[in-house]
Amino acid sequence: MKDFLREIITEAGRITLAYREQTDTLAVDRKFEKDLVTEADLAVDRFLVGEIKKRFPDHAVYSEEYGRQAGNDYCWVIDPIDGTTSFLHGQPFYSVSIGLKKSGEGLWAAVYTPVLGELFEAEKDRGATLNGKPIKVSRRDRLADSVLATGFACLRREQPYNNLPFFNRLVPQLRDVRRTGSAAIDLSYVACGRLEGFWELYLFEYDVAAGFLILSEAGGQISDFSGGTRLIPQEVLASNGTLHDELVRILHDTKIESTQKPCLKNGYTQRNTGIF
Ligand code: IPD
Ligand code: CA
Ligand code: CA
Repeated sequence: MKDFLREIITEAGRITLAYREQTDTLAVDRKFEKDLVTEADLAVDRFLVGEIKKRFPDHAVYSEEYGRQAGNDYCWVIDPIDGTTSFLHGQPFYSVSIGLKKSGEGLWAAVYTPVLGELFEAEKDRGATLNGKPIKVSRRDRLADSVLATGFACLRREQPYNNLPFFNRLVPQLRDVRRTGSAAIDLSYVACGRLEGFWELYLFEYDVAAGFLILSEAGGQISDFSGGTRLIPQEVLASNGTLHDELVRILHDTKIESTQKPCLKNGYTQRNTGIF
């Protein structure tokens, strides 16, 4: 399995690099006003689904651009390019993200950043690696010494309930904040200790399936903003574990104080009605 996953994700990365040479002339469509899909996203998705179906015809597949294909208990969850905006703007912070689940539980995962040449991998109960070397979360235990990442998908989709109150509350307490543009990279960076944490609203399973396994195998912690699991991935808080309770306290309090509440209907059901 490891070899197969490695083979298809690095080939997918090569495909993105070829398209990266021609971003000026790339066909780009819009799922929503600011939510883009390029011909590269579609080509990589097509390639990955094709290879997986050839090798494991009975497995289910859930990919961002082509949706769900039914199968047995095994399900491949694919984000062909996580960070399309970064990709289209010629930035290196995008990834290919693939997770394999069995009955809903992560078994294998890989996140590959083709421009940066980094491959994060994990196998359930066997740990996580970066380019073959074991990785662990950071041990920093003070917010003032910590760097966190976040994202603003919610703002992109003009959500009434958005990240700004959380951002405003957290950022002054941190050493700094980063926005790579790829949730899969953010989770992998928490896993290898480059970040102490990550939070975001309104993510989808394909944004986080691989990153979650990589992070939990590296010793990290994942919850919703209240410390439970019910609202994942509508709310995602990921951390090195040490800072988790403190971050939950801040995010949860901010949520309680915020007058606006999550709007599942607008935020969530919209996206998969695009151009599939
Ligand atoms: C996006 C990235 C980004 C996050 C957005 C996602 P896409 O995925 O993960 O970091 O902020 O919520 O939609 O659209 O580039 O695959
Ligand atoms: Ca994504
Ligand atoms: Ca994507």
